[in-house]
Amino acid sequence: MRITVIGCGYVGLVTAACFAEMGNDVICVDQDRERIAALSDGRSPIYEPGIEALLAVNLSGRRLAFTTRLDQALERAEVVFIAVGTPSSADGSADISQILSVAASLGQYLMAPAIVVCKSTAPVGTACRVQAILDQHCARRHLNWRASVVSNPEFLKEGVAINDFMRPDRIIIGTEDDHAAEVMCALYAPFVRNHERILLMGRRAAEFSKYAANAFLATKISFMNEMASLSARLGVDIEQVRKGIGSDQRIGHQFIYAGCGYGGSCFPKDIRALLHMAEAEDQQLPLLSAVEARNSTQKQWLFRQISTRLGSNLRDMTVAIWGLSFKPGTDDIRDAPSLVLVKSLLDAGVRVQAFDPVAGTNIANQFAAAVARGQLQLSEDQYQAARFADALVLVTEWKQFRQPDFIRLRELMRRPLLIDGRNQYDPQALQAQGFEYVGVGRPSAEPQQRPALRIA
Ligand SMILES: NC(=O)c1ccc[n+]([C@@H]2O[C@H](COP(=O)([O-])OP(=O)(O)OC[C@H]3O[C@@H](n4cnc5c(N)ncnc54)[C@H](O)[C@@H]3O)[C@@H](O)[C@H]2O)c1
Repeated sequence: MRITVIGCGYVGLVTAACFAEMGNDVICVDQDRERIAALSDGRSPIYEPGIEALLAVNLSGRRLAFTTRLDQALERAEVVFIAVGTPSSADGSADISQILSVAASLGQYLMAPAIVVCKSTAPVGTACRVQAILDQHCARRHLNWRASVVSNPEFLKEGVAINDFMRPDRIIIGTEDDHAAEVMCALYAPFVRNHERILLMGRRAAEFSKYAANAFLATKISFMNEMASLSARLGVDIEQVRKGIGSDQRIGHQFIYAGCGYGGSCFPKDIRALLHMAEAEDQQLPLLSAVEARNSTQKQWLFRQISTRLGSNLRDMTVAIWGLSFKPGTDDIRDAPSLVLVKSLLDAGVRVQAFDPVAGTNIANQFAAAVARGQLQLSEDQYQAARFADALVLVTEWKQFRQPDFIRLRELMRRPLLIDGRNQYDPQALQAQGFEYVGVGRPSAEPQQRPALRIA
């Protein structure tokens, strides 16, 4: 099929590359010229494992192309995916202005009755609004055809996005139009060859399903963080509780890790948008308000541990951070717990030495002033970040942090305080190696009696 994808971000790029990989003829549009130039050259502007290999194969196979010209990209389009951003507005609602602006351009440039697919996460009713905009334009242009708008929310996870897209748990297609449903099912057929995973429903149900899925997953995380805050007080290790409840098939092992809060481009903004949708309908969602409140508290947990252990005056102390992206496998720092921690540390006059395998540049851009005055240093190496540190905080559980050389680390640090925001380490083993260890929902160790190690 001839496909146009609008928006070359985490979702649009993966969508375009995966459809091209299945033999479709895909053209991907973005308004960001630098992004398009890099992509046309086979370089991905985002970090996503496997994406550059897919780009190389499909660019050279001429099944995938990139452009900034929407009019040209629509010339032969049969299916058009809208994969632009839907960030939070100041009041928490989803800002769908990028979708609406794309819809207006489609109304202007579409030359044939294509199927227009809303892939962006957007509030219930957005696909209907896009349909109304397209219908108006068709009427104004005296066209005797109508583009059909479908909602097809995306469920991929950054870091494993290609695998998620290629082997989806389910594909939700929201449409009341039989022809559109048929085309969408044909398009996705190669991704569901071994068993049927396509769910057909109305547009509004499809839109709502995406929000409900994210709200449920965020609830699991906040629930576990709440249990962690109590378990530590009761002298119980939340990690044992996690295993204890995860083995119950009704609960499952996923998304029940206590930690320093959820972040990323989806959960925080989608929960806010859902709360806003409820408010507009005069409904209260106290459970979800609590999920959000717990997450905000949790994001401050790391800094609280530092000030509890190192004292309220942190000026001129040095704190090392391992991991800055909101989760491993991505360079995405949107709403990441690291942002809250870095800001609190900088405000407290702390010198921050941070390391992340791929997200360092994004953090450096976000805190450019602190980098310029030397208060925030992005290290090239995880051990270099820990030199002379008064504390090391693990924020993102990249694999390379799982089994570090603790002896080397202990020697490098000024004070061997390790705050484990992802419960990656064995508290007893670390204490035996001379670390003062703090985990989430894990009973506090007695403060270490040995004097702080000083390195000249
Ligand atoms: N990132 C995820 O993991 C994920 C997962 C599922 C769903 N989603 C949803 O998918 C949507 C896209 O998310 P993302 O993370 O890919 O966003 P993103 O910010 O990474 O990418 C959006 C892209 O759209 C481009 N764009 C904006 N307006 C445009 C226009 N008028 N014409 C052409 N290009 C335009 C931007 O330049 C940008 O490159 C959001 O609604 C998001 O909630 C994201």
